[in-house]
Amino acid sequence: MKMQKLLLGCLLAGVGLLAVACSNVNDAGGSDNSGVTEAVSPSASPTPTTETTSTPTPTPDDMPPIYDVPEAESVIGTRLCERYQGYFTVGTCVNSTTLNHPRIEKLILEQFNTVTCENETKPDALLNQSACVAKNDVVVMFPQRTIAILDWAQEHNLKVRGHVLVWHSQTPDWFFKDGFKNDGTLVSREVMLQRMESYIRQVLEYCNTNYPGLFTAWDVVNEAFEDGSGEYRNSYWYQIVGEDFIRYAFEYARKYAAEDTKLFYNDFNCYIDSKNNAIRKVVEELIELDLIDGVGMQSHLDVDFPSVGDYIRTVERFSEMGIEVQITELDVTTTGSDEASFEKQGDYYDRLFQFLIAYEKMGSSNVTGLTIWGVADNYSWRSSQYPLLFDAMLQPKPAYYGVLQQAQ
Ligand code: G3I
Repeated sequence: MKMQKLLLGCLLAGVGLLAVACSNVNDAGGSDNSGVTEAVSPSASPTPTTETTSTPTPTPDDMPPIYDVPEAESVIGTRLCERYQGYFTVGTCVNSTTLNHPRIEKLILEQFNTVTCENETKPDALLNQSACVAKNDVVVMFPQRTIAILDWAQEHNLKVRGHVLVWHSQTPDWFFKDGFKNDGTLVSREVMLQRMESYIRQVLEYCNTNYPGLFTAWDVVNEAFEDGSGEYRNSYWYQIVGEDFIRYAFEYARKYAAEDTKLFYNDFNCYIDSKNNAIRKVVEELIELDLIDGVGMQSHLDVDFPSVGDYIRTVERFSEMGIEVQITELDVTTTGSDEASFEKQGDYYDRLFQFLIAYEKMGSSNVTGLTIWGVADNYSWRSSQYPLLFDAMLQPKPAYYGVLQQAQ
């Protein structure tokens, strides 16, 4: 084991970081699409030990329970969730549109064993303004489009990652204002904490009551830190409550979540030191209070940023904190849809998964779940950069075979 780690460590360390002109890779990882320029080193991605394409050998039995691979009709024949059974669950995000597309639904059921609602369990979907105004209190209502997805997941024995309770985006401004009115003034810290607790309680109690055992995880807080500086994002949550809005969110989530629901802090660009340090500092505090179970690395990547080496070292840094890591929104953009671009993208996915498995086998990481942020390129939030595993015709791309670590 030590020799393996040493060898891999040398591979990683020995690769020179070729400081090249900062790429203008605009990491659109978050909702504000803030650009990130970063010294990239295309050749810095190490070549890991080759991974056999057979079903992986079982990992240490201290792994958290790995969910079953539900029965499903064969579409392609190979199944991503089966390929990584024993390592981590493999999921995708779904929305009302993709779920009502019969061929996409079949593909999801064959390939994945967990799903995340792309938008349907966010505050702007669950908060009902007219009811809040009428009651002058927080009113959460799960709309039919959300219920349809959760019913479908339950019916097909898929598990669900809850996304997201406390976020600066897709949370209506009126939620922070007097009387829940669009033109109200911002409420006090005390009122906002009461609203936060009420929102979290209503969402989690609804899920516990109507979907017992369905939600294996919730992203409790999303994207609380700025990219470059690692400072707190100047959201209404931060402005009204202060830095401890994160602790309160996890306190309320722990209070109302089911025992077996894991609580995550979720963010993008976690491999940038200033942000990584800020995240690890708050996560340390939450670990001390036993309020957090893991970190979600969104992982909105590009074939040229970050290097697989930098990425896997970030997975290791979070894992070393003794918590779970979940890759929550993986996609890898590419410059074009020509064969060469898709081959390069497939190679990036292949190396990424080789390293993920190598580190799991060495016990250097603790990845328990992985979600690809969508199925087909044309439905992706980054559709113009073809980031996913299937093309618009639902044909598997080299990226799919890269994830499988199988020759196409
Ligand atoms: O529902 C409205 C529809 O009524 C309206 O006609 C239409 C046109 O304006 O907009 C629809 O809302 C869109 C929503 O997706 C549902 O489709 C929003 O405009 C659009 O901005 C929103 O985009 C989502 C984005 O989050 C918003 O920040 C993407 O689908 C979703 O993939 C993306 O996911 C986020 C994660 O939640 C957090 N991490 C970053 C990731 C990418 O931003």
